[in-house]
Amino acid sequence: MSKDSRIQDELSASMTGGRLRRYAKVTSAMGGLAARLAGERYLGIKINREQHASDLRAALGGLKGPLMKVAQILATIPDALPKEYVNELSHLQADAPSMGWLFVKRRMKAELGENWLTYFNSFDKQASAAASLGQVHFAEDINGKKLACKLQYPDMGSAVQADLKQLKLIFSLYEKYDSAISTEAIHEELSDRLKEELDYSHEVKNLKLYRYMLSDLNQITLPNPIDELSTNRLLTMTRIDGSKIMDFIARNSDIKIRNQVALNMFKAWYIPFYKYGVIHGDPHLGNYTIRPDGGVNLMDFGCIRIFRPDFVTGVIELYQALRDGDEEQAVNAYKSWGFENPSKELIGVLNIWANFIYQPLLEDKVRLINPSESGQYGRETAEKVHEELKKIGGVKPPREFVLMDRAAVGLGSVFMHLKAEINWYRVFHELVGDFDEKILSKRQSKAMKQSGLILD
Ligand SMILES: Nc1ncnc2c1ncn2[C@@H]1O[C@H](COP(=O)(O)OP(=O)(O)O)[C@@H](O)[C@H]1O
Ligand SMILES: [Mg+2]
Repeated sequence: MSKDSRIQDELSASMTGGRLRRYAKVTSAMGGLAARLAGERYLGIKINREQHASDLRAALGGLKGPLMKVAQILATIPDALPKEYVNELSHLQADAPSMGWLFVKRRMKAELGENWLTYFNSFDKQASAAASLGQVHFAEDINGKKLACKLQYPDMGSAVQADLKQLKLIFSLYEKYDSAISTEAIHEELSDRLKEELDYSHEVKNLKLYRYMLSDLNQITLPNPIDELSTNRLLTMTRIDGSKIMDFIARNSDIKIRNQVALNMFKAWYIPFYKYGVIHGDPHLGNYTIRPDGGVNLMDFGCIRIFRPDFVTGVIELYQALRDGDEEQAVNAYKSWGFENPSKELIGVLNIWANFIYQPLLEDKVRLINPSESGQYGRETAEKVHEELKKIGGVKPPREFVLMDRAAVGLGSVFMHLKAEINWYRVFHELVGDFDEKILSKRQSKAMKQSGLILD
């Protein structure tokens, strides 16, 4: 049996159940990838990865759902997947909405009961946007208030399970042939977050948490959840309108307003982190819009991570270690990040990445986030890290790393598009100047209690 067909079998064997047939195309694309990677490695056969990656993208284009979100997160972890694939996957957009009106009516009746339509003045028959696990319909409540209703597709529980299984296999195949990264913890983290995402009542709690944490900032708008019209599978909230960031950039050449947007994005992401130990793990372009005054509308609270307070201390400690060139402190910092027994070599490699991420915070001057302005944010550094990791035998990134990194890279790329010129050092120091782990811990407990969340 050829290696190719064996891998095919390996993939098919892991899949049971009818709905998994939708994976057939992806499976063969991934199976092909694994085989070709193996060929490249052991037989020196050069594969046209770019061609293959775009085949994979074509296959994935027919899918919607969790795997797509996962792909976008993975795009920010150096070496989690081959770069050509990441390139393709990072361009994936959720598919066009697929539940037609008849189906939507049935789903809404299931969520809110026979009289569901009487709770609304109007309810758009057409979805206005696709969500990864459902679709969003605009509506109006009986007082004419504008609403957005995120309605989940049926059977997403099993789709998520299936996607996660598929992902595990993709990881293990790639790891076996080509990767310097142990993906176990990454998979665990993505699994937990995706499972949480299935329950929209959990997202409502996350949304309440964010409303609480950002309540003092009138530059940031969040939807207001409508509890009476929400269930585990339907999230009804006030509608917030604004421009897509790329449209905003195209229309606003004034550096002042672009800097303002960058600062607001920084606050929306890092006040929750440094004051409460919470990160919004999905700074995807669809998850926020820009107000005409440069304010930010923040959406999508499905992928939120709450950290142990000492992890936040570790993040600040790593900053200090890089600033002072203090190796001992770096060891401690990486330990609090969750890297097990980091060797000197490993720390050297991790520092390449950390220096890249922290660099803008280390200089007390107005600057671009990435003065080299080269291509995708961090791509070159990621490639270097990849090479170095291979030389030293790989690394097992802790699960805490996944969304922190995703947030930093996602925001970095927004700042790059904005060409924002900011003294990041000052902004950062204003935020962490009075950092105290115990105070954060108290703040975090209070905020979570207010929003009905329990820390596990
Ligand atoms: N409150 C809202 N007001 C206006 N549009 C919204 C609102 N919530 C979501 N949307 C639109 O629906 C899309 C999908 O919602 P989102 O919560 O991001 O779903 P997912 O978690 O699947 O990514 C968003 O990208 C946005 O375009
Ligand atoms: Mg979203």
